[in-house]
Amino acid sequence: MANPNRTVKIGLIGLGTVGGGTARVILEHRDEYRSAYGIDLVIAKACALEPERAAELGLPEGTFTPDWHDIVNDPDIDIVVELIGGEHPATDMIEAALEHGKHVVTANKALLGRNMERLCAIAREHGVQLRCEASAGGGIPIVNALEHALVANDALTIAGILNGTTNYILTRMTTEGSEFSEVLADAQRLGYAEADPTADVDGFDAASKVAILASIAFHSRVTTDDVFMQGIRSISPVDIDEARKLGCVIKLLGIARRTAEGVDARVHPAMVPASHMLAGVNGAMNAVFAVGDAVGETMFYGAGAGAFPTASAVVGDILEVADPLSRGTAPEPEPEPYGRVLAIRPIDDLETRYYLRFATTSDDAIERIASALAGAGIPVESIAPHPKDQLTITVLTGTAREGSVQSALATIAEAGIAQLGSLIRIEDTGFWSTGAKEN
Ligand code: HSE
Repeated sequence: MANPNRTVKIGLIGLGTVGGGTARVILEHRDEYRSAYGIDLVIAKACALEPERAAELGLPEGTFTPDWHDIVNDPDIDIVVELIGGEHPATDMIEAALEHGKHVVTANKALLGRNMERLCAIAREHGVQLRCEASAGGGIPIVNALEHALVANDALTIAGILNGTTNYILTRMTTEGSEFSEVLADAQRLGYAEADPTADVDGFDAASKVAILASIAFHSRVTTDDVFMQGIRSISPVDIDEARKLGCVIKLLGIARRTAEGVDARVHPAMVPASHMLAGVNGAMNAVFAVGDAVGETMFYGAGAGAFPTASAVVGDILEVADPLSRGTAPEPEPEPYGRVLAIRPIDDLETRYYLRFATTSDDAIERIASALAGAGIPVESIAPHPKDQLTITVLTGTAREGSVQSALATIAEAGIAQLGSLIRIEDTGFWSTGAKEN
């Protein structure tokens, strides 16, 4: 491999788990990148809240700065890597870096889920790239696959387990029969779940990732606010057991589908057939099931978080940008963000089967729930008290429109018939491949 024309200088903002992993991967692989790819990477500046982090990671003296402005204003820095997460002040950092003509690599899903179109436009205007492989699925190369290897396709469905914390909790609830709150407390003690687990357990983290992947796959603006979101707090051991009886497991799915009425984008717990590949994705692992009209079904599996898996994606992005820079040429600027803006299909228009669990104190609740569902035109496949608890009623519907189900639930609540404990959509995974070409 030819010697690089020049060294590529990186400014690293954030030296936490992912920033630390990124620094270590670059430092450990520098010689290999030089000899294998002709790319010489150096971390020229690094910013963090704790000054001692730079030395702990083995960064040379003089690399550390407490002020991110030193990085975005430094004319020698080619690529700014933002790894602090959260929308603020990361938005200011990324905007400033792009406006100063720096390429930006980020893992920041919260920020991109809401601002991808605007930031890509700023990048394009300044002739630089904004890369985000690590923002969805951690180490899984799904962004690259959607942007490159799968571009020949019309993307039909992206369905993924995009949050490791909730997958870890649901896996343990499934294998141990434990309550959500017990497993969450344990996951926090073991460091799998954040002290404030809201973004994970209520679905926001996965919704940001759905927005990013849908925007890329469908070449259209989809933001986190467009994604319907329901978390896993209400899932109980009874639900897990009922799913098992139906031959299913419960997973928090992030789904983006291209439909005739627009993009169907949602995050919620779903019953998935135990035979489906996504059902076998356990613990904190992530996976993305992607269907294209030509390729058909594909499945990507890997670690969605963690220092080194995420660093793998971050450094992959850095090397893509560094490759032309090393040869003395400019990387292509960010392309036009989207060629179109597709409508977002309202969740009320979703048609699927539903599992409902109610708590009641009334003797005639079964008849009254059945009547409310019938009144909204919802076919009922089964309705019965739980064998171990006559005051818990579980219902399985046939295919129904979400809007009708919500209106029946409002009737049930307003009439004081029963309290809804859980609503889980039974996902028709066979439907995900609708539109794929026959072989
Ligand atoms: N909190 C996220 C998860 C980390 O649990 O998957 C990766 O985005």
